[in-house]
Amino acid sequence: MANIHFLMRIYAPLSAAIFFIVFVTLVAPARAQKFGGLALTPPMGWNSWNKFGPDINEQMIREMADAMVSSGMKAAGYEFINIDDTWQGYRDSLGFIHPDSTRFPHGMKELADYVHSKGLKIGLYSDAGDKTCAGRPGSRGHEYQDALTYAKWGIDYLKYDWCNTEGLNPVGAYTTMRDALYSAGRPIVFSVCEWGNASPWLWAGSIGNLWRTTGDISPNFDRNIDHGTWVQLAVMSILDLQNGLREYAGPGRWNDPDMLEVGNGMSGNEDRAHFSMWCMLAAPLIAGNDLRDMTPETKAILDNREAIAVDQDSLGIEGFRYSSADSVEAWFKPLAGGDWAMCLLNRSVGPKKAGFNFAEEAVSDSLSGRNADFGKILYALRDIWTGKVLGTTNGPLEVEIPGHDVLMLRLVKE
Ligand code: GLA
Repeated sequence: MANIHFLMRIYAPLSAAIFFIVFVTLVAPARAQKFGGLALTPPMGWNSWNKFGPDINEQMIREMADAMVSSGMKAAGYEFINIDDTWQGYRDSLGFIHPDSTRFPHGMKELADYVHSKGLKIGLYSDAGDKTCAGRPGSRGHEYQDALTYAKWGIDYLKYDWCNTEGLNPVGAYTTMRDALYSAGRPIVFSVCEWGNASPWLWAGSIGNLWRTTGDISPNFDRNIDHGTWVQLAVMSILDLQNGLREYAGPGRWNDPDMLEVGNGMSGNEDRAHFSMWCMLAAPLIAGNDLRDMTPETKAILDNREAIAVDQDSLGIEGFRYSSADSVEAWFKPLAGGDWAMCLLNRSVGPKKAGFNFAEEAVSDSLSGRNADFGKILYALRDIWTGKVLGTTNGPLEVEIPGHDVLMLRLVKE
């Protein structure tokens, strides 16, 4: 009897331990999910599409990585070098994808190693359909193979587009790629690029780290470009399309109002307003210009640490439009530690005088449960674009804002 008791005492915990190990190593990983811990603040980087479209090659991608470091952008927080459409060449007889050998003669692994050697990360683009938007091979039917290939190459970010997907269910298609990425075992930021057609904010939070909320952006402040079969949206149109979406975003899951057009042809004021509003939206900051050839003004916008700090704030709460009068909108974003970001956006072409009498305004946010409480709490008004302090919330703010520009402030709790 003593022996049986002894054996029971040994075997019961032992079999429980064996069961636990088998479950953790074999059964649990089989249940695919989204990688945890990625994109806890909105992703920051660069992408080839907005400026270069299909004209890409490995040399320029290397140069862009170099420029991200030498321009100070890496030090400001930019991390990803993302290659968009047209990197793909062909699928081999086993179905594995190979890069276009004319544009990427040394292959993706070598390029990824180079980008990593700069302390940066690298992203690729694919599509849920059998062809990408530019007609290159898409991932449909090859999702697990492609995810394994990306992991083998050392890819860190995947933008997954929605062209040529007739008959596909977006939730199913994006879940398949999420599961494939998870099974491949390499943490890869997953960017859902479904253009907002099927309201991805409702379902993509458990699938991806960011989801496009609209069609493609254009370097225009407030005029859309009609291409006949599709409309390329102006910055202000995209801003307006974010209404009602802020409750879906947060650490690890962001609304994506598309990549930046800073430095791609708008005026300095417009670029500054565009960048400021993307920061107020806690949007991914993916530059879309030629980093090798930036004017000092473009660089100063993309590198503004105080604006970036608003975007990257650890609270991860999107800003909101508080008021709108005579083409000037007042936006607020609660920040960690009790500060607020405030932005007065002048949407008209000409300058506008604007005022904000803090004593008379009740700025609060039910999403974060925060109340600015201007009656009780005093804030210093720090101008994010000039670095000057414009007084405090003690008195009314009276300013003139140039056309298509902003006054962006950090309200620093005294
Ligand atoms: C779609 C996407 C763009 C870009 C192109 C590439 O239009 O929305 O961001 O990736 O495809 O073909």
